[in-house]
Amino acid sequence: MQLELCRIIELPKIADPRGNLTFVEGERQVPFAVRRVYYLYDVPGGASRGGHAHRELEQFIVAMSGSFDVVLDDGYGQRTISLNRSYYGLYLPTMVWRELTNFSSGSVCLVLASTLYEAADYIRDYDQFVREARAA
Ligand code: TYD
Repeated sequence: MQLELCRIIELPKIADPRGNLTFVEGERQVPFAVRRVYYLYDVPGGASRGGHAHRELEQFIVAMSGSFDVVLDDGYGQRTISLNRSYYGLYLPTMVWRELTNFSSGSVCLVLASTLYEAADYIRDYDQFVREARAA
C-alpha cells in the first residue's frame, strides 16, 4: 500500500573539484511543492526521532551529513531504509508511520515538507494509526 509509494530519489549532483553541489526543486525532483524545511542535528547517540505518521503531509528526507535509518510502517508491513548520501533522498507519502534511528555522530537530517506545521495532522498513537491506515 503506502510503503510501495515510499522511494529513494537520486538528486542532481554537480561534481566540482571545489566541492560538490546538489539541489532540490519542488514539483521537480520532489513530487510536491515545498512549503517548509526543517532539520535535525546534534542528535545524541542512541536517540530516535519520529514515532508518528501524518494524514496529509508528504515529506522528503535527506541525510545531509552522516547517516541514519528510517523505519517505515504503513499498517500492513515494515521496511527500513538507510540514508547516507547527500544526493539521495527518501520520499514519504501520507499515512506512513516513521521512526528515525541509528544516527551517526554529527549527522544532519534535512526534511522538506509539503505543508506548514500543523499539530492536528500528526497521528502519535500507533494503534490509532493502524486503525486509520486500514480503514482507508
Ligand atoms: P516532532 O515532529 O514530534 O519531531 P520528530 O518527528 O523529529 O520526533 O516535533 C518536535 C517538536 O517540534 C514538537 O513540539 C513540534 C515542534 N515542531 C514545530 O513547531 N514545527 C515543525 O515544523 C516541526 C517539524 C516540529
